[in-house]
Amino acid sequence: MRIQKDELWTEAKLKDLIRAKLGENALFVVSNREPYMHIINQVTGETKCVRPASGVVTAIDPVMRACGGTWVAHGSANADKKFVNSKNKLGVPPDDNRYILKRVWLSKEEEEGYYYGFSNEGLWPLCHTTHTRPIFRETDWQMYKKVNQKFAESILEELPSKNPFIFIQDYHFTPLGRMIKEKRPDATIALFWHIPWPNPEVFSICPYQKEILDGMLGCDLIGFHVQNHCNNFLDTVNRLLESRVDTEKFSVNRRGKETFVRSFPISVDGKITDESFSSKQEDLDLIRKELELEGKIVAVGVDRIDYTKGIIERILAIDRFFEKYPQYKNKFVFIQLAAPSRTHIKRYHDLMGEIDELIEKKNWKHSDGNWQPIIYLKKHFSPEEIAPYYELADICIVSSLHDGMNLVAKEYIAAKTDLNGVLVLSEFTGAARELLEAIKINPYSIEEFADSIKLAIEMPQGEKSKRMEKMRNIIKENNIYRWAANIIIELTGLKKAV
Ligand code: G6P
Repeated sequence: MRIQKDELWTEAKLKDLIRAKLGENALFVVSNREPYMHIINQVTGETKCVRPASGVVTAIDPVMRACGGTWVAHGSANADKKFVNSKNKLGVPPDDNRYILKRVWLSKEEEEGYYYGFSNEGLWPLCHTTHTRPIFRETDWQMYKKVNQKFAESILEELPSKNPFIFIQDYHFTPLGRMIKEKRPDATIALFWHIPWPNPEVFSICPYQKEILDGMLGCDLIGFHVQNHCNNFLDTVNRLLESRVDTEKFSVNRRGKETFVRSFPISVDGKITDESFSSKQEDLDLIRKELELEGKIVAVGVDRIDYTKGIIERILAIDRFFEKYPQYKNKFVFIQLAAPSRTHIKRYHDLMGEIDELIEKKNWKHSDGNWQPIIYLKKHFSPEEIAPYYELADICIVSSLHDGMNLVAKEYIAAKTDLNGVLVLSEFTGAARELLEAIKINPYSIEEFADSIKLAIEMPQGEKSKRMEKMRNIIKENNIYRWAANIIIELTGLKKAV
């Protein structure tokens, strides 16, 4: 089965496909980050259910809503235990149970070694080319493997007696595929790598390279966002592991097992034909009033506070923009929505301080008492809270130094029903391969970046609409349902071939 290029994929269509292809075998998804977190405010005692800022959650939650099944993830929030049954499960979304979330509990030591340590101080900087040095500690690696084993056991408990389908997410779980296969060779397993994959020279500094690659090759299918990352992965395996890489089939054979490697560019649910994205007029008016945006040109950035996102470079570019084009003082405002992230790690903690300091300095430099160029809103925003900012923003700036895909770029486009917006997009994102009508920037080139902001502001309305329409069509077609359908078709195809 092949998906036609202009075929439109919907939630209902994906549901039918899953039923036809997987039958009674429900889908099992595994990720570190859970899609719904129960958080209690220690002071007021109030509990709320929060959707975390994570590309994985943004992308996979609509798929699971469509397909049903079980999602296994770390129960990391402080009230999570209160909301599960005796099997550590609950139905989600909380108000409309579409699928099951199974929470895995980790001790502080496990979280430290596996999540903060090996995943986010080791693999994360290793895979992103941002010149942050990866740290590899033997204790973290041991804990990472132990936690992967814990997840393997939690999943194995759930699997039906025959031919289950398991879909693993991201760099937290390189050994997991092999661990599950050892106990359940009948399982079909895919791993999707949501971040970039580096070239062999870069990857070869990792002391655990062979075990990592061998663990990943326990899966039947490994997906990346772009072809270049597939090529890097195959080159890495070819150079560092005893195996046979088939460059025609794009697969690796190791000890008699074949693993296929494919690119599947991820997306958003792209419901852009209906009004589901339109925020309430009162919400828009309130933000305009509170932030004094009336009559101003507004640009927005929406990020986790992460050194890969190029937030420092963005502020420097805005500073340079006002130096070069002072006629825009009092007329242009940049709003940064920033969700604190991984703050327990020194590099992230330091980055928060650096950003605070830089924004304060640049606001002081350019402001005139009534106006300041940068509005910095540092907190977690829900998707519903972010929506009005996308809607009122004339420009969205995505300046990642390196990014697997970047779904903020796609969310912004999906939100611009009136076609009135410009996307300024780093050429180092996966999204830049698809969104050719965005204004491309190299975030390291502050001069060029500053000029691109001017270009975005001054782009004629007709040109803006034309570009936005083209990008919206791309997202409408290549939505998250098509992404999932492609993976399911590939996976079930493999099942037959094996
Ligand atoms: C990236 C990763 C995800 C992760 C997200 C948020 O998008 O690919 O796996 O969930 O960052 O990071 P966090 O560490 O908060 O889950």
